[in-house]
Amino acid sequence: MEKKIILKDLKDTIELGKSLALKCSGKEIFAVSGPLGSGKTSLVQGISLGLGIKAKVNSPTFNIIKVYPVDNHNTIKELVHIDAYRLKSSEELLSLGVEEFFLANDNLVYIEWPEKIKDIIPRRAKNIKIDYYKKNTERIISF
Ligand SMILES: Nc1ncnc2c1ncn2[C@@H]1O[C@H](COP(=O)(O)OP(=O)(O)O)[C@@H](O)[C@H]1O
Ligand SMILES: [Mg+2]
Repeated sequence: MEKKIILKDLKDTIELGKSLALKCSGKEIFAVSGPLGSGKTSLVQGISLGLGIKAKVNSPTFNIIKVYPVDNHNTIKELVHIDAYRLKSSEELLSLGVEEFFLANDNLVYIEWPEKIKDIIPRRAKNIKIDYYKKNTERIISF
């Protein structure tokens, strides 16, 4: 990881998510680590806005995987949000059919708590780390 950005507040995080989305064309995988409350879900909310998704993206606590259709994009047809926090093993995620999402060309896959499923995350995944920073609402993000 080389690039670091300070996010002053939630708005900065959302805006960064939006601009990340605009650089995507499909087949991206983001592996986003960081402590509870650091802003991983907020970042994917920004990405969803950037993709024009109307539904509110929340933590997929009960579902582990949530798929959001993308209607108005040339190459991305869905956002796949994975929250591995509650998983005990990678096999659990495999049994939910995650490989299909890793193989597709027309989606953007966003993974929270990737360290829980290290062994099955494709090499091409882009690693991102979010952490708390000096002030209450400040975060530091590394790419
Ligand atoms: N700069 C910031 N970026 C992201 N979230 C922030 C920021 N400052 C404060 N927050 C707050 O921190 C919380 C982050 O929650 P969330 O995105 O669900 O974290 P995580 O998914 O990492 O557990 C939200 O309540 C949000 O309003
Ligand atoms: Mg979260």
